[in-house]
Amino acid sequence: MSFYMKVPEKFRWFRDAKYGVFIHWGAYSLFERGEQVLFREHMDQREYEEKARAWNPAKFDADEWADVFVRSGFKYACLTTRHHDGYCLWDTKTTDYNSVCQAPGRDFVAEYTQAIRKRGLKVGLYYSWCDWRKPEYYEGPEGNPQGWECVKTYIRRQINELMTQYGKIDYLFFDGTWPRYADEIGTVEIVEEIRKLQPGIIINNRLGYRGNQEEIDKFGGLSDEGDFGTPEQNVFPQDKLWESCQTATWRWWGYTKNERYKSSAEILKLLCECVSKGGNMILNVGPKPDGTLPDEFVSRSLRIGKWLDTYGEAVYGAEDGDLTEFATCGYQTIKGSTMYLIFNIWNGCSTLRLPDMASEAVSAQFMGSGKELPIEQKGNVLWIRELPKEPQEELFPVIKLEFKEKPRTTVWGAQRQWQGDPQRFADWARGQEK
Ligand code: GLC
Repeated sequence: MSFYMKVPEKFRWFRDAKYGVFIHWGAYSLFERGEQVLFREHMDQREYEEKARAWNPAKFDADEWADVFVRSGFKYACLTTRHHDGYCLWDTKTTDYNSVCQAPGRDFVAEYTQAIRKRGLKVGLYYSWCDWRKPEYYEGPEGNPQGWECVKTYIRRQINELMTQYGKIDYLFFDGTWPRYADEIGTVEIVEEIRKLQPGIIINNRLGYRGNQEEIDKFGGLSDEGDFGTPEQNVFPQDKLWESCQTATWRWWGYTKNERYKSSAEILKLLCECVSKGGNMILNVGPKPDGTLPDEFVSRSLRIGKWLDTYGEAVYGAEDGDLTEFATCGYQTIKGSTMYLIFNIWNGCSTLRLPDMASEAVSAQFMGSGKELPIEQKGNVLWIRELPKEPQEELFPVIKLEFKEKPRTTVWGAQRQWQGDPQRFADWARGQEK
C-alpha cells in the first residue's frame, strides 16, 4: 500500500486502470506460428520478406477491435508498431518495409490510434529496439561503427515518427535491447526527447542495462530506469508501478494456430492477483493474419468484461490489500474504507474467519445481489456468517466489507512468517508475546 500515494499525478490513470490489452500483430501473424517465427525457425530472410510484403489483412477493422476492448473492460491498449522482424505498421520514411508501401496500402497505427482514442481508451504503442533485418545492430558500435550510427539514426527517426504523427500517445512499451546496452543505444537520451514530444507519456523499463558487461557481471544487470516494471508471464510486485504482461494463450504473443487458450477463470485470477499485489495486468491477443480477433480470445475477454461490469469496483482504482489470511480463498483489494474479498475458490463453509483485522467492520454484503451477511468481530478477528454452500456467481464472487476507517491490519498481518522482526517471533516462541 505504501507505494500507492507516491505515484505522480500524471501516471495515476495508469495506476488505477489496472487492465490493458496488448496486441501482437504484424506480418509475422501470417505464418501462424508466433511473433518470433523468423528467428526461431531460422527462416531465410528473403523468403520471409517476400511473404511479408504480400501480407494483406483485408478484414482489419480498428473500430471492431476497439469495440471488443471496451466491452471487455480494458482501459488501455498497446499495439506492436514494429516487432523484432522489422515490418512497420505505420507510414515511415525510414524504410519501405511498411504497411503503407506494401500490399495493404494502409497506415495501421493511424487507424488503431484513432479508433482506440475515440472509444476513450488510453493509447499505447510497442516498439522493439532490435531489428532482425539489421546486422549492424548486432555488430554494434565496436564491430561496425558506421553501421551502428545508421541504426541509431533509424531507431531515433522511427520513434520520432511514432511520437509526432499520431496525436497524444499515453503509453510506450519498449522491448528487446539485447545485446546492446542502454548507453550504446542512448535510451536515456531518447526517453528525454520523447518526454518533450509527449509530456504525459508513461514508458516501460525495457531500456537496456546501464554500464557494460564487466560492470553488469560485477554489480548485477538490473536496470531500474523507466516508469514501470514489466514482469513477463509472471506476477512480481515491485516498489514502483508495474504491469504483468500475460498471454491469453499458452506461449506465443503473435497469432499461433491451434494454440491452447487460458480459461476466463485463469485469466481473471491473474488479473485479481496483480491488483491485490498493487500492479496492473496487460493481457495479450494475437490477432489473425486477416486482421480479426480470434474467437477464443473474444469469448474469454467478453466474459471477463461482463464480470467487471458488476465487480469492477473491486478492481479499477483499487489498492493492494494483504490485510488478513485469505490466500486459500482468493484475493483482497482496498478502496477507501472498503475492503473487497474476491473468491477464486468457494469452499462452501458457512463461516469465514478473518484474522488480523485492526479496524472495526460495519457491514458485509455480496456484490451484485447486494445481499447482506451477518458479521461478528472480537478483538482483531472478524467472522462473516451464513455464507451459502454454493457460490452465487459463476466466475468469482466478491464480498464487500465496510469499515469505520481505511481498513488496517495488525503486526501479525503486516509481518507474515518470512517478514518482520525475528525477535517478535522469538518472544512468541518463548510464550512471551507482547
Ligand atoms: C519479449 C519477446 C516478445 C514479446 C514481449 C512481450 O521479450 O521477445 O516476443 O513481444 O517480450 O513482453
